[in-house]
This record gives sequence, C-alpha cells and structure tokens, in this order.
Amino acid sequence: MKPLRLYVNIDHVATLRQARRGDEPDPVVAARLCEDAGADGITAHLREDRRHVQDHDIDRLRSSLRTPLNLEMACTDEMVAIALRVNPHHVTLVPERREEVTTEGGLDVTRDQPRLRAAIARLQATGIVVSLFIDPDATMVTASAELGARAIELHTGTYCHGGGDSTALRALQDAASLGARLGLAVHAGHGLTTRNVGPVAAIPEVEELNIGHSIVSNAVYVGLPTIMRDMRQAMHDGRSRGAR
Ligand code: PXP
Repeated sequence: MKPLRLYVNIDHVATLRQARRGDEPDPVVAARLCEDAGADGITAHLREDRRHVQDHDIDRLRSSLRTPLNLEMACTDEMVAIALRVNPHHVTLVPERREEVTTEGGLDVTRDQPRLRAAIARLQATGIVVSLFIDPDATMVTASAELGARAIELHTGTYCHGGGDSTALRALQDAASLGARLGLAVHAGHGLTTRNVGPVAAIPEVEELNIGHSIVSNAVYVGLPTIMRDMRQAMHDGRSRGAR
C-alpha cells in the first residue's frame, strides 16, 4: 500500500488573525509548527475574496516551508497568474462562491472544460502538479483524467457530514479505485476528524489527506491549558514587580 501523506490546511489560523486584522496568529508560524510535528505538506486556500489567507501569506509560505505547498484556488485568470508567479508544488482547483461558508461540493469538471484544460496545461507545463477537487462520482473522475490533471482530491464532505455513512464511504472507495486505474494520484479531504478519518485512510488508493478545521479547532483545546498557565505567570510577575 502507498504511504499516506498528511497535508495540513492552515486557512483557519488566518481566519482567526483576520478577526482582528492583526498579525497573529501567523499561519506561517503555524505551518512551521505543523511541519515540526510531522506534516508532509501545507495547504492554503487563497480565496478571491481574501477572507482568510492573504497574498503575502502565500509568498511567505512558499519561501519558508520545508515541505511542499499545495495552493488551493479557483480556476480564474487572476489565480492562475498568481500560481505561475509563486510556483507552488501543487495546485488544487476548487469551486468558489462568495456567499459560501466553506468549499461546498466538488468542482463540476464537466463544465467550462476549455478553460479548465488550458489552466491545467499551463500550470503543469511549469512542473506544478494539478489536482481537481471533485465529488466521488465516476463521471467527475473520468472527466478529470480526460482534462489532463495528474491528481484528484475526493470531497469527503458527504461521508463526514452523514456520520460515516457506508454508501458515502463506498462512493469514495469506488472513485478512488477508478481514479487510480486511470492513472490519477488520489487525494481526499473536507470535514475529516480523528473520529471519521480511519475508513478513508484505509482506502488503499488514497495517498494524501488534506485536513484543516478539525486540527486547528482541536489545537485551541490542546493549547488552552498552556497559555492559561503562562498568562497567570505573567500576571503574577507584573503584580510582584508593582508591589516592590
Ligand atoms: N480540501 C479542500 C479542497 C478544501 O477546500 C478544504 C477546506 O478548505 C479541505 C480539504 C479541508 O477541509 P477541513 O477544513 O474540513 O478539514
């Protein structure tokens, strides 16, 4: 079986920073911590509305990461130009709607094919591996291969939000198997947690998982006891100095 890589999506670190429009938490620092803790790569979604990750984050990630950068983006002229300038290791093309809370559903790769085909060809000509974020559906997998992409990322949202439903898992297994038969590298992601990742990790053709929200939200819980202790200590030190 192929080894399974974990790419950490750091968008939600940027979401927290943007709540104050300040400079912390810094997604680049978070990405380096993930690398130190064993991440195989870092994923960041530069949205057209720049809701969380900013252009300067992508530049800094590209220059400071030790592991590959996977740039998630919509297939627009602006984003393709940015990807060609930044030259990440991977580009994952995703659908994007301004009003959505997060990426909803996979990219419909049966539509707008000339534009998709041209973007994939331009990006891959420079050595970038292009992955298409699609629903686990045979038509989408086949169309992805025909478009010339080297990889697909299977949307695990239906499986995750359905509580690990066996029909949704079967769809992922079938799509992964078809993708591999068509010569595509198979990735998966969206909504994965420590509770539901097991059956997806067991799909032999899946070689990479992209996980963000669950890792970042659990990091808050894991980190709170430490920062509480540090804050108490800083308060205590300040108080003691004031009393002198
Ligand atoms: N893969 C893609 C293409 C995504 O758009 C996202 C969400 O940004 C993820 C993976 C990660 O999903 P989650 O944050 O739910 O782990």
